[in-house]
Amino acid sequence: MTRLPEDMIRVPGDKSISHRALLLSALASGRSRLAGLLPGEDCRSTAAALRAMGCAIPALPDDGGWIQVDGVGRTGLVAPRGPLDCGNSGTTARLLLGLLSGLSLPATLTGDASLRSRPMARVTDPLSRAGGRFEWEEEPDRLPVTVHPGALTEIEHRSKVASAQVKSALLLAGLGAGVPVSVEEPVSSRDHSERMLRRMGIPIQSRGVAPHHVHLDGGEFQLHPLELRVPGDISSAAFFLVLGALGQRALTLENVGLNPTRTGALAVLRRMGAQVEIHNAREMDDPGGEPAGDLLVAPGRLEGVEIGGDEIPSLIDEIPILAVAASRARGTTVIRDAQELRVKESDRIHALARNFQSIGVSTEERPDGLVIQGGSGPLEGQVSSFGDHRIAMAFAILGALPGNRIQVDDRRIVEVSFPGFWERLSALSDAGTHFSSGGLAGSGTPGGNGEARRGTGEEDADRGRPPVVTLDGPAGSGKSTTAGEVARRLGFLHLDSGALYRAVTLVLLDSELPRQDWAEHGAEVLEKVSLGLEAGSQGLEVQIEGRPVSHELRSPDVTAQVASVAALPWVRERLLAPLREAARDGGVVADGRDMGTVVLPDAEVKVYLTASLEERARRRLLQEGREEVEPEIESTAQELARRDRADREREVAPLRKPADALVLDTTGLGFQEQVNAILKLVHQRWKGGG
Ligand code: S3P
Repeated sequence: MTRLPEDMIRVPGDKSISHRALLLSALASGRSRLAGLLPGEDCRSTAAALRAMGCAIPALPDDGGWIQVDGVGRTGLVAPRGPLDCGNSGTTARLLLGLLSGLSLPATLTGDASLRSRPMARVTDPLSRAGGRFEWEEEPDRLPVTVHPGALTEIEHRSKVASAQVKSALLLAGLGAGVPVSVEEPVSSRDHSERMLRRMGIPIQSRGVAPHHVHLDGGEFQLHPLELRVPGDISSAAFFLVLGALGQRALTLENVGLNPTRTGALAVLRRMGAQVEIHNAREMDDPGGEPAGDLLVAPGRLEGVEIGGDEIPSLIDEIPILAVAASRARGTTVIRDAQELRVKESDRIHALARNFQSIGVSTEERPDGLVIQGGSGPLEGQVSSFGDHRIAMAFAILGALPGNRIQVDDRRIVEVSFPGFWERLSALSDAGTHFSSGGLAGSGTPGGNGEARRGTGEEDADRGRPPVVTLDGPAGSGKSTTAGEVARRLGFLHLDSGALYRAVTLVLLDSELPRQDWAEHGAEVLEKVSLGLEAGSQGLEVQIEGRPVSHELRSPDVTAQVASVAALPWVRERLLAPLREAARDGGVVADGRDMGTVVLPDAEVKVYLTASLEERARRRLLQEGREEVEPEIESTAQELARRDRADREREVAPLRKPADALVLDTTGLGFQEQVNAILKLVHQRWKGGG
């Protein structure tokens, strides 16, 4: 395995794939397992809509961890009781229009001011021709719109724009109604829906590139459940690719989706002269797979180029950041055939032109694009996000380049698609928190090949070894999600001891040994099994006999047994060495019950998380994806109180606050506030030399 050089960044999961994974696993017959879903606001809108339609989607984990979705079957969704709020998300709105219409479910869809100004008739027109019934609540072609029940017949559509949202909406409608669908688009738009549907057993045919045809036969299909790890979003990676191409040091973007319908920006950046390499390319061999790889970008000089024609759909979301690259290139860049930009989250042509003009970049606004004069003088001033996440991030990158000082007005908007954007950017711009790649973490599984982010670069050498951070606390205090996010923000490894205890439980459950013999003979079973810790692309991965098992660790059987297994003395002993080994070089955030006391007593930063019983109960229920939380709080709180008592009183590894730990009561604290409080502590201690 190649060791990744230079600064390493992991971007959140692909937004388009995440929406589709949620929607299609809700329609599956059986339990899907999904990891790496984008926990951004757009995907939360999709998840919330599906919950309102009767599918219990769990909360989307902030650390991209696994969730399980119990599908309700192709026609099992029900009409929501109230309006579905799609927030800022065009994909949510358009795909749901297709799905609701196909299932003949009545519902009203609405969204925020930006979404309410975007065209919807591109989806409702072809559906209406096939018998779908829609009513505009305020003005034609705009949300809010009500879908009325109506039986669909065959859907045939020649789309004027290459739009994956239109294509996917029609496929979902046909799938729900069991009718055939044929769509022609001028050029192939992103094909994630087709790939995923194939993977779930639905026979989708496609042919041609320009024009591109997609066909689904009518039929009462059953969708097989999905097992999917969503790769990083190339549209989010693009911001850091441009930072790497124009900045002062090389960057590696880890595990980025490289679906050929999405990689136009890579081609353009290369045409501009950027050095972009793909490492560790992963071609998926099943028909529904999504290719992915690591992207390495090195600083260099960029030249102006022409961007237009058939390549536009493959880079449509990256135009704001490509325009920023153009503003720092030598010569003129012309962007044409991109009129679709006028109906994105903002009118992006106008937003780019206005912002460039206000900071002194000479720009001409055209109906279908922009002409941008590149330059190298310092740029200064205030720009607007225009309520658009990608405009905000594009100008943030421009502002982070050496010599520039640019303020973006609305920083919060990035949560739509890239939670953690500002932290990653400041980590790179500010040497004090910046991270670099390091060696392998883990207990030495043969053939180990993961990369851990250990903060072992030059800057870190000035500051001493990156610390070991421990996070202990009672059940339901949010240790694991918090530790995951703290680790991600620091570029450290998340050492999740719970996952190891779960892995031992899984080994025991899979063995022949009866449960009553686990205490006495379990150690002999484990002796014969190799248990490994790998720092993989999604953080720590537990392997049994070299096989990644992370997704099996949350099964109900494991959950039911893990507390008693973790209380067995031989289990604690057996796991002590691998846990200590993984933390040996520092740069680790470890969470558990006795991390700061028994496992890593020398940790430089120790935090003990608490929260009121009621708050912990609420979090636990939300984590389980319950919709009606309040009625169950009291009983769950009582159960947690019993569990606390047992944890404190048990003989092996009783729950105790480490004497030198900071106690953080997280009752009433938002998740990010809690994470920030811990980060602050880490930085204080770390700057102080540990
Ligand atoms: C998307 C398709 C594209 C893209 C959007 C996401 C999708 O929109 O711009 O960000 O997930 O299908 P169009 O389908 O309108 O081109």
